[in-house]
Amino acid sequence: MSDEQKHNESSKAYGRFHRRVLEGNGALFAIATTVAISIGALVEIAPMFSTTSLSWQRADWVTPYTPLEVAGRDIYIREGCYLCHSQMIRPMRSEMLRYGEWTRAAEYQYDRPFLLGSRRLGPDLQRVGGKYPDAWHFEHMRDPRSTSPGSIMPTYPWLYRQKYDPADVAKSVRALATAGTPYTATDDASVAAALEAQADKIVASLATTSIQVAPDDEIIALIAFLQRLGTEGKKHFAQQAAQTSEAAPAPAQGTPSATGGGQ
Ligand code: HEC
Repeated sequence: MSDEQKHNESSKAYGRFHRRVLEGNGALFAIATTVAISIGALVEIAPMFSTTSLSWQRADWVTPYTPLEVAGRDIYIREGCYLCHSQMIRPMRSEMLRYGEWTRAAEYQYDRPFLLGSRRLGPDLQRVGGKYPDAWHFEHMRDPRSTSPGSIMPTYPWLYRQKYDPADVAKSVRALATAGTPYTATDDASVAAALEAQADKIVASLATTSIQVAPDDEIIALIAFLQRLGTEGKKHFAQQAAQTSEAAPAPAQGTPSATGGGQ
């Protein structure tokens, strides 16, 4: 028998085995598929349980959202902002130059549900907190074209008329606490007090630019949420970088640096 004939014979035999034995038997095929997929899943998941790297584990520098931020997050979800905005910076140079340090899994530990997003019609918002003043967000959400000429982002005029309900926010906070977020005070009165304290600060910051707004307007909650995004990560990574540069030997005096002679 020639090599070619041998090859044809064996591929025919394999074809018969696959069609008759595997595909012909639903139960066997289902078991074989499950085994194959489980091996793939184990290869992906197992290393996570053996690593000691903090990139995926819970991190103590991430804290739960405040009640006002929870209210803002609920509005963000209701308005579908995640359909145009991602919250995930990939570990690639171009992303990090634009958005900052790449996102660690631990940064999502209190995100229920996750808002990673799957499309970027607008920029990533993972570290947008602190990028703009409160007044910028106030104007931008009212009319995106006023701050960003040519923007395709919709206007959200109702956020300036509708009020968030402290009792509703307290329910959200309690739901998150049930799911494991470590809130200490989840009764209506404590949540209402926390809402008021944080909202008053944002109202005061807006008042410095002559914007008059009520502390329980929905826009206030949304601004609180946006201004918080990624700020803990930014602080944490800046501290880490400072520690590393302290540990590194200081450059010799008079040595020109890459940024131009140390000026
Ligand atoms: C149709 C898609 C779309 C939707 C929906 C949308 N945005 Fe945007 N967003 C954009 C685009 C495009 C930009 C960039 C231009 C600009 O600044 O307006 C942007 C910019 C932003 C920025 C500034 C980001 C930066 O780094 O400069 C913020 C903050 C923002 N959006 C928040 C929101 C919030 C909050 C919502 C929901 C209430 C929302 N967006 C809904 C498209 C969208």
